[in-house]
Amino acid sequence: MNIILFGPPGAGKGTQAKKMVDYYRIPQISTGDILRANVREGTELGLAAKKYMDKGELVPDEVLIGIIKNRLKEQDCEKGFILDGYPRTIPQADALAVILDEINKPIDAVLNLEVPDEELVERISGRLMCNCGASYHRTFNPPKKDEICDICGGKVFQRADDKEEAVKTRLSVYKKQTEPLIDYYAKQGVLITLDGTKDIDEVFEEIKAVLAKFA
Ligand code: AP5
Ligand code: MG
Repeated sequence: MNIILFGPPGAGKGTQAKKMVDYYRIPQISTGDILRANVREGTELGLAAKKYMDKGELVPDEVLIGIIKNRLKEQDCEKGFILDGYPRTIPQADALAVILDEINKPIDAVLNLEVPDEELVERISGRLMCNCGASYHRTFNPPKKDEICDICGGKVFQRADDKEEAVKTRLSVYKKQTEPLIDYYAKQGVLITLDGTKDIDEVFEEIKAVLAKFA
């Protein structure tokens, strides 16, 4: 099953992707997580990406296209994948189509999680992250033990780009550069829009229902 999880910052892509990984046993490919790991490790890619990410801007297309091209060819994508945070521009989507054509893995569905702006801001400002990729929310989805990740026991923290200024930029970048992909995938007949305002488990139930025919 080859899936794109789509939606604005804070829509719940990462949260749902983690549940899908457990349920469908296919990998999550989060470009945000890949970039953040590079920033943490101080790689050349990380150093170049950080200045865009901290401001809430997109990292240049050619960087992301290179990352995705390599990642999708890895063995664990054989039975499918969940793209989280890619594509985010029309050139990224066009490049993806070429890559997927080469490896003969067409997209089955683009799940578009719809959440209004006010709620996105509330979610992002309360988010807590762990270096293992887990994501929590101070109120809606707190870790079981204060400040400690349920999954790996690491200390959770606020993401550098979850500060107010960067959040505003991320939302406007989404509208300008990423939202046009909704039409792009609707025209291809693969777009499925879901109400992302329901609680985390309800959204996941809907995802399972709409993906039943592909599983
Ligand atoms: P990325 O890491 O992809 O960030 P994003 O798209 O801004 O999305 P988020 O991770 O903020 O939100 P999410 O939808 O995953 O929500 P989550 O599940 O965490 O990208 C970061 C940066 O990297 C970009 O700004 C850019 O610079 C760069 N980048 C990455 N990919 C790129 C690309 N392809 N091209 C160029 N640059 C790229 O949930 C949010 C919060 O809400 C959490 O606290 C969660 O617990 C809570 N929550 C989730 N679901 C619910 C619910 N149903 N009800 C209540 N609370 C909920
Ligand atoms: Mg995310």
